[in-house]
Amino acid sequence: MTQDELKTQVGIAALKYVTPNSVIGVGTGSTVNKFIDALAAAIQKGEIAITGAVSSSVVSTEKLKGYGITVFEANEVARLGVYIDGADEIDAAGYMMKGGGAALTREKIVASLAERFVCIADESKLVKTLGAFPLPVEVIPMATSYIQRRFAGKGGTATIRLKDGQPLVTDNGQYILDVTGLQIKEPLAFELGVNQWAGVVTVGVFAQQKASVCLLGTSAGVRTIEF
Ligand code: 5RP
Repeated sequence: MTQDELKTQVGIAALKYVTPNSVIGVGTGSTVNKFIDALAAAIQKGEIAITGAVSSSVVSTEKLKGYGITVFEANEVARLGVYIDGADEIDAAGYMMKGGGAALTREKIVASLAERFVCIADESKLVKTLGAFPLPVEVIPMATSYIQRRFAGKGGTATIRLKDGQPLVTDNGQYILDVTGLQIKEPLAFELGVNQWAGVVTVGVFAQQKASVCLLGTSAGVRTIEF
């Protein structure tokens, strides 16, 4: 099976975590796009009805709205039953690295509203230790050099993410640093520590908002890992 087929498989499998007639949290990325496609098809066939979604990015909002799905602002919703999103890495405890699509801040906010985080990922995302994928960190632009030096002190190399030769600007008007050379052995302590640095908006380690369950796409079918 191709990686794309594995993503389709888990996107469809996530439908069973959608509580009918509720507002759901929807993440960002190519795997989530498969979920949105599957959700829209199920709604169209009358198999599922939802009240709407809270989305973690402009891109996902546009895709949801394109299918006629109502998108609420996070501030309009006190609690979500479920948040469905992908990951760049996930470990055996359900700790994740996210932000490859630069949506990590809104992803963490929407995940914080949800009772359960359903992570959908192909099997390449399951790792022993977080850190092989460059760690995304959303930062206030004037703090960029300071934060790069702080990561250098931890043995990491933090590079400003570019788009068309210019710093990529997030949906929140900030920059992204991608940090290589880290091995994140204690994700919770790491997340809490980096969160304290001046100018850090969000670090892409999701330990406080770890996955409740992971639907992992494998060539032998969808593996469900509960945490
Ligand atoms: C976006 C994310 C995505 O969930 C993560 O990058 C995985 O994306 P994909 O499903 O395309 O592999 O965190 O900020």
